[in-house]
Amino acid sequence: MKRIGLLTSGGDAPGMNAAIRAVVRTAIYYGMEVYGIERGYAGLMTEELYKMEMRSVSNIVQCGGTKLRTARCMEMLTKEGQKKAVETIKKYGIEGLVVIGGDGSFRGARVLSEEYGIPTIGIPGTIDNDLEYTDYTLGFDTAVNTCLDIINKLRDTMTSHERICVVEVMGRHCGDIALYSGIASGAEIIVVPEIRFDLEEIVTKINRSRASGKHSNIIVVAEGVTSADQFAKNLQSVTTFSVRPTCIGHVQRGGSPSMADRMLAAQFGNKAVRLLKDGIGNRAVGIRDNKIIDMDIIEAVSMKKTFNLELYETLQMISM
Ligand code: F6P
Repeated sequence: MKRIGLLTSGGDAPGMNAAIRAVVRTAIYYGMEVYGIERGYAGLMTEELYKMEMRSVSNIVQCGGTKLRTARCMEMLTKEGQKKAVETIKKYGIEGLVVIGGDGSFRGARVLSEEYGIPTIGIPGTIDNDLEYTDYTLGFDTAVNTCLDIINKLRDTMTSHERICVVEVMGRHCGDIALYSGIASGAEIIVVPEIRFDLEEIVTKINRSRASGKHSNIIVVAEGVTSADQFAKNLQSVTTFSVRPTCIGHVQRGGSPSMADRMLAAQFGNKAVRLLKDGIGNRAVGIRDNKIIDMDIIEAVSMKKTFNLELYETLQMISM
């Protein structure tokens, strides 16, 4: 394979730039050309692409966001959109494609592989960690660390005022950001889409913690359940402790990637290009049990995400 395309798609995630760098540098190492496609599948349809060189990716390993920019492209769900994308691929002599993105982006990659025979490799880039086939997605670690930084600060002021804070985190339908940031910040309660919650039980737990000498409480709520505002209102109507909501929002999507995300990016990007170089397409790269893996992209997108109940139970036992 002599020429490959590269795009980032869907919500951005810290580490995408580091992955772009790894793809470009690995491809150049193997004597391949890389065309960077701007604005994801949308840019593929409108021919917004350019040849990337060694220096095109200098000084980006530490940057959040994505140099190639990104978009959520509904047109990629239509036959016309897909045909336009394929036309550009053919016109520029692109023989294989690397797609960095989440669930939705992988579905586009699957169509290009399966229906149009374009060898495509998916790199999981999303803060949500909602892909079952990989233990971690690119950006998740940094996003959780950002949440931790904010929750630590909230804990200070909540303790001074003896309040309860309801913190809303992202994750779409997946509770992983809430689970990991809840455990790692010492939050007393997490509320996730995967587990039914009971407001009365939450109040009982808060009362118990206060009776044992605690001066504040943190409840991390995943956006897939409800908003911090709504949850705080409901809770305030059944407790005398003062409740305050905070929605972390898009702050958790930005920022310099953590060491863990930069390492994943380097390995995912490198692996993706090595697969294409060997003529292997239609794979999704990931990490499982600390090993970089690749699997059929169609299988990868069809796996249903499971929730880590053991971690959830751990939180119940150690956070009180
Ligand atoms: O998929 C990443 C994500 O940040 C989700 O956690 C969130 O629900 C969504 O994207 C927000 O999307 P947007 O930036 O388009 O509002």
